[in-house]
Amino acid sequence: MKNIIIILFCCSVFIVRGYAADARTAPKTGAAAPAGVPVYKNPRFSPEKRAQDLLARMTVEEKFGQLQQLDGDWDGPYKKEDLELARKGQLGSTLNVRFAKNVNELQKEAVEHSRLGIPLLFGFDVIHGFRTIFPIPLGEAAQWDPQLAERSAAAAASEAYASGLKWTFAPMVDIARDPRWGRIAEGSGEDPYLGSALAVARVRGFQGADYGAPGKIMACAKHWVGYGAAEAGRDYNETNISENALRNIYYPPFKAAADAGAATFMSAFNDLNGVPASANRVTLDGVLRGEWKFSGFVVSDYNSVKELVSHGLASDEEDAAVKALSAGVDMEMVSTLYRDKGPAALKAGKISAAALNASVRRVLEAKFRAGIFEHPYIAPELETTSLRTLGTLALAEHAALESLVLLKNAGGLLPLDPATKRIAVIGALADSKLDMMGSWSGDGKAADAVTLLEAIKETVSPKTKVVYAAGCPVTGGTDEGMDAAVAAASKADVIIVAAGETADMSGEAASRAFLSLPGRQQELIDRLKKTGKPVVAVLFNGRPLELGPLDAEVPAIMEAWYPGTVGARAVALALFGGANPGGKLPVTFPRSVGQVPIYYNHRSPGRPYSAADKYTSKYLDSPVDPLYPFGYGLSYSSFTLSGLSVSPASIEPDGSVKVQVTVENISTKAGDEVVQLYIRDAAGSETRPVRELKGFKRVTLAPGEKRTLEFELGPEELGYYYAGGFFEVEPGIFKVYAAASSVGGLETSFEVNAK
Ligand code: NOJ
Repeated sequence: MKNIIIILFCCSVFIVRGYAADARTAPKTGAAAPAGVPVYKNPRFSPEKRAQDLLARMTVEEKFGQLQQLDGDWDGPYKKEDLELARKGQLGSTLNVRFAKNVNELQKEAVEHSRLGIPLLFGFDVIHGFRTIFPIPLGEAAQWDPQLAERSAAAAASEAYASGLKWTFAPMVDIARDPRWGRIAEGSGEDPYLGSALAVARVRGFQGADYGAPGKIMACAKHWVGYGAAEAGRDYNETNISENALRNIYYPPFKAAADAGAATFMSAFNDLNGVPASANRVTLDGVLRGEWKFSGFVVSDYNSVKELVSHGLASDEEDAAVKALSAGVDMEMVSTLYRDKGPAALKAGKISAAALNASVRRVLEAKFRAGIFEHPYIAPELETTSLRTLGTLALAEHAALESLVLLKNAGGLLPLDPATKRIAVIGALADSKLDMMGSWSGDGKAADAVTLLEAIKETVSPKTKVVYAAGCPVTGGTDEGMDAAVAAASKADVIIVAAGETADMSGEAASRAFLSLPGRQQELIDRLKKTGKPVVAVLFNGRPLELGPLDAEVPAIMEAWYPGTVGARAVALALFGGANPGGKLPVTFPRSVGQVPIYYNHRSPGRPYSAADKYTSKYLDSPVDPLYPFGYGLSYSSFTLSGLSVSPASIEPDGSVKVQVTVENISTKAGDEVVQLYIRDAAGSETRPVRELKGFKRVTLAPGEKRTLEFELGPEELGYYYAGGFFEVEPGIFKVYAAASSVGGLETSFEVNAK
């Protein structure tokens, strides 16, 4: 008994201190629970107990109400009719409603005027920043720096929280191998290992150790599952993925997010092997909840419950509600079939009370954990003190810097001399604030953004003359515009041309059938080249592009993705030597769209490519290798790798080896290298990829500095899932590569003994 009293005392001290630190404000009646208040209103009870108690008090309509998420207006207000729904307890959550005034007004209806006072959960897509915009996720993946990604997500979370949000629909952890798919911009690229590391980092960044804490928001791993494999790269299209690929390629980042404690998952739009993901019992109930013991809740994607009818899985709207809920989709985003058809379906026995209660319980438990019963409102003053702080802007600039990938630097053209007399900056993207922000810029404002042109002017010597001409927009353009740009460029000592895609050419519903530079940009670059002046290309884009013609023409290419609010400053800094680019590609850049899908971790054909033999895996009209491989990127420094060793030389299947390799900066400039560790399981009962990333380290080395890095390869890295979902390390030879990209590098091997 004495122990119990002490524990209760400690808990209450913690709770009181938690309140004091929390900028969210409590309703007049909620903070301290006087004796006699219902269990669900008493924070001393566990979320499970509170949910249980609350569930027992709810009507069927209120239960379905908790499973309903509705959209507000895109710029923050709620829809007027939501006030009444909140009052009646028929709304559980919103998306896009944000800012203290809107959130608090709508929340008040739910908390103070509904029968049970259940608070609403306010969600929003915080994909690469909230108000301060960071590089797009694909650019963030190019950093190969999960700790930085975690800090970036934490900064975004604290801005979102300050605007009344407690939930983000991120991270997007879909593996994508097809750059035609515009949403490749929102994820970490093609690799499950890098993707998993970033999934964990982002979940931790958003949620911290406890998503109920002030400044933290709930994460949502999306889109479960296989959405990134849209056939032909066309968004929303069907996906057909073998169990081998699901388990070894597409699931791992989701598993990592679940293990890191992601509060929620989002069920995807796509039909997966004939069963749409938003009604897929195997993936939702079997894998996610059954195998992985995920205890959070699942929200559908936007209207994806209703879309079960167009898929042809559900015969009508009631059938769609029944199938989605029974498969384990807890909350319905935007369509209202649970609310409209659910009660009758329940009565008719098509939805079981157990399934309904389980879904409601999961949503309620998350709300208790999020602390919104105690702190449903947001303090309005936070909006003025927490957005675009100097610290967050500095972090965003650093993030942009680390995301830069130097694709080409012939003759050491870069870095440029900041005292160059005349510089021509060409290309509409160089003067676009909006496009710096990228495909999903949250609550970012274009007016806050710095353009490349502005950043270059800030960076060069005051004596440098910077002339600007658009040449042509990203699409379209006139001969006169091109002529003017060429005339301006021909008087310059160096030409910096910004090329790529507008921000809205990647992201959702932004698939492309061609991957070349859109519009007349390549023609413009051809003409700039003819001036005989050195040309540096800076790319702004959300996907791998076909860069063969560009690569053939210009000596220097810097991949800048969409770098965010202040990211252009990082680009200018790197162009003029104030910083050294060191990012690496998280995705393969093909030579042509005809090579797609192309990815480094493919399996070997029986007749692997050989230049000498026609009857091998190749094209008649294109090389087979990509233009820039996964993991590739240059820097102003040069590095070597040496001394790759593995010990011991053989292990048991449950053992592990230590791998060592030494990296040295052999140049006169300090810089970053990303040392990458790959394996190949040489022979198995199922064939394994020619290379699989199993470790990486981004290190900064002073000129001449050497560092020996150590990696461990154990069962988690060496095993794989084979038919039936079994995970095993199989005996045999494992090759080990330490390299600066997925191609080449040092090689050694070790053996896993038979059991
Ligand atoms: C649809 C998108 O697929 C999803 O990623 C997003 O979170 C929701 N819309 C909400 O905006």
